[in-house]
Amino acid sequence: MKEYLGPVSVVLISLLGHTDKNGAALIRGSANFRSSTAVVADSSLKDAFRNDFLIGTALNLTQIDEKDPLVTQFIPLQFNAITPENIMKCEVIQPGWDDYNFGPADRFVAYGRKHNMFIVGHTLIWHSQLSAFVKNIRSSDSLRLFMKNHIEKVAGRYAGQINSWDVVNEALNEDGSLRKSLFLEKLGPDYIRLAFELAARAAPNTELYYNDYNIEQPQKRAGVIAMVKKLRESGTRIDGIGIQAHWSIKNIPLQDIEASIIAYSALGLKVSFTELDLTCLPNPWDLTGSDVNQNYENSPFMNPYPSGLPDSMQAKLTKSYEDLFRLFVRYKDRIERVTFWGVCDGQSWLNNWPVRGRTNYPLLFDRNCKPKPAYEKVMALSDNP
Ligand code: XIL
Repeated sequence: MKEYLGPVSVVLISLLGHTDKNGAALIRGSANFRSSTAVVADSSLKDAFRNDFLIGTALNLTQIDEKDPLVTQFIPLQFNAITPENIMKCEVIQPGWDDYNFGPADRFVAYGRKHNMFIVGHTLIWHSQLSAFVKNIRSSDSLRLFMKNHIEKVAGRYAGQINSWDVVNEALNEDGSLRKSLFLEKLGPDYIRLAFELAARAAPNTELYYNDYNIEQPQKRAGVIAMVKKLRESGTRIDGIGIQAHWSIKNIPLQDIEASIIAYSALGLKVSFTELDLTCLPNPWDLTGSDVNQNYENSPFMNPYPSGLPDSMQAKLTKSYEDLFRLFVRYKDRIERVTFWGVCDGQSWLNNWPVRGRTNYPLLFDRNCKPKPAYEKVMALSDNP
């Protein structure tokens, strides 16, 4: 374990491989890529919280393929759990009825095993990022067959290698009712039970999770609890609830989060925060969740901090993370994992959602993978900093 020396001490790394022959950064013109030198922390989140919960991150293919020397070194230092940001979603892993693209997912799983990490599969059944052929399925029987094939092939392939699957993602509306989706329309509410049954058979020793955003909110939480009870009444296994944790520094719903940790764990479920990031930018609508199908025009008003986060906002981000981790640590016995949705600010999806081309600051590490003030405050909350 590395020693944490009060205020973050840093190591400067010169990224020679990332400059052209003139020494300029290879990727220019975007605030979302770092300069040719970068900084990493000499302390580690995963070590600091090793007695509390796993610390995860979402990975993209560049990171899985270890293309970038700084990030390659950085990820296993900070994180001991990984989730694939996109490569296990239907549109990537099963582009056609009999067409599976396992290459990237195989590399993801191999990466996790090589680094001895907790490996999360994301996600088996979701209404979004479906392949075109699935969206075009017309009959209930065909859709049921797709679900069976998809889950058997994908979950079965990694049985014994993936630790936890997000079996069903985002099946609920804000009021706790079932979201209108292809699956609900063609198969009725029973599709959720079917998905969990198939996953339990294909991956018997894997944790099976339901994952969604805003499920710390009372109405949606009630919907999750009703779903879990129904599954259990039918003898179907569900092991955990993934609270996505896409929140805003404007408002972290601490009380609802606490009530949710208590309510879900009281049902004997594992609780994880699966996609943590805190947006620092205005949302174009009064929405606290993250329906990925919405997108809004960019504008200077919507992108107020293209060249750096003002101190007052940095302080808000820091306080938000501190409040959140204080709560997490208080409930560490009931929390299995806290996963950030991305490694460093520059590659967060929040630079492009819900408005494309913005500069957002939602994670603990900046565009150079340098720890931000929030990192120090979070580390100070661990009993093992
Ligand atoms: C996001 C990815 O981060 C983006 O790269 C992609 O364009 C859209 O999906 N809820 C989820 C994640 O469960 O899979 C989503 O990931 C973010 C919201």
